[in-house]
Amino acid sequence: MNTVELDKIFDQAKSWVLEAGETIRTKINDPLTINTKSNPNDLVTEMDKETELFFAKKIKDTYPDHLILSEEGFGDDIDSLNGTVWIIDPIDGTMNFVHQKRNFAISIGIYQDGVGEIGLIYNVIEDVLYSAIRNKGAYKNEEKLPLLSESVKIEEAILGLNHFWLCENRLVREQTMQQLVRKVRGTRTYGSAALEFAYVAEGIMDGYLTMRLSPWDIAAGVVIVNEVGGTTTDINGDELNMIKNNSVFTCNPRVQHIIIDDYLRKGRK
Ligand code: IPD
Ligand code: CA
Ligand code: CA
Ligand code: CA
Repeated sequence: MNTVELDKIFDQAKSWVLEAGETIRTKINDPLTINTKSNPNDLVTEMDKETELFFAKKIKDTYPDHLILSEEGFGDDIDSLNGTVWIIDPIDGTMNFVHQKRNFAISIGIYQDGVGEIGLIYNVIEDVLYSAIRNKGAYKNEEKLPLLSESVKIEEAILGLNHFWLCENRLVREQTMQQLVRKVRGTRTYGSAALEFAYVAEGIMDGYLTMRLSPWDIAAGVVIVNEVGGTTTDINGDELNMIKNNSVFTCNPRVQHIIIDDYLRKGRK
C-alpha cells in the first residue's frame, strides 16, 4: 500500500474513531447492560459490542477486502496477519468504563502483512487522540510527540504494572518484582493497556509491563510507541506474536535491558 492510500485510510479511521467516541460520550449516563465473560470481573457491555459493530460495518462497507481482528466477536476468524488487518478494541478498560465512566479508550491498529502501519488510541472522555503512521511520528491530538528521553535512569523511572505482579504468579518471583518496585521511582496502574501504551509514548511513564494481553490491547500502542523510539517485546525481550496472547513489556530502550536482565529474566520461574 502506498503512502497516499495509507494517509486516506488513516483519515477515515480517525473520523470513525472520533464519531464512535462522540456516541459513547452522549450515552455515557444511560443505564448499562453489563455481562461477564470468562470470570465475574471480565466485563462486557452493550456499548463494547455496539462500538465494535459500528467499526466492523464501516470497514466492511468501505474496504471489503480488509480483515478485522477484534475482541467482541464481530471480526473475522483469522490465523495470520496477511493483507490489511484492522485490530480493534472497541473499549479498552471496560471495568473503568463501567465503574468510573472514564479512563478507557478506543484502540485501533492497522497492520499490512504483519507490519503495524497505523495506530489510534482515543481517550474518549478526555477527547485526546494518540495516533501514528509508521515512519511519520506520533501525535497527541495535533501535537507531535518528542522522541523518548535518552537520559532516563532506572532509579528515576515510572513503571506501569498492576498489583498481580506482587501476588503469587506463574511468571516472575514476587520478591524480584518487589525489588523492582522499590528500585524505580514510582509505579502506576491505570486499567487500560491502550492508555498505558499511550502514556509510555508520551513519556509520562517509562515502561508498562503486563502478564498477558491480546492483540487488540496492544496493536495500536505498539505502532505509537515505536514512533517515539520505544520498544515493545514480551517480558523475556522476545518479539511479540501479534495474533496470539503475549506477556508484554513496552519501554524506553534506555531502561529496557536492565529491567529485563536484572529483574524479569533473573526472577523468571
Ligand atoms: C483490559 C485492559 C486492562 C488489562 C486487561 C485487558 P478490556 O482490556 O486493557 O488494563 O489489564 O488485561 O483485558 O477487557 O477492558 O478491553
Ligand atoms: Ca474485555
Ligand atoms: Ca482490551
Ligand atoms: Ca475491550
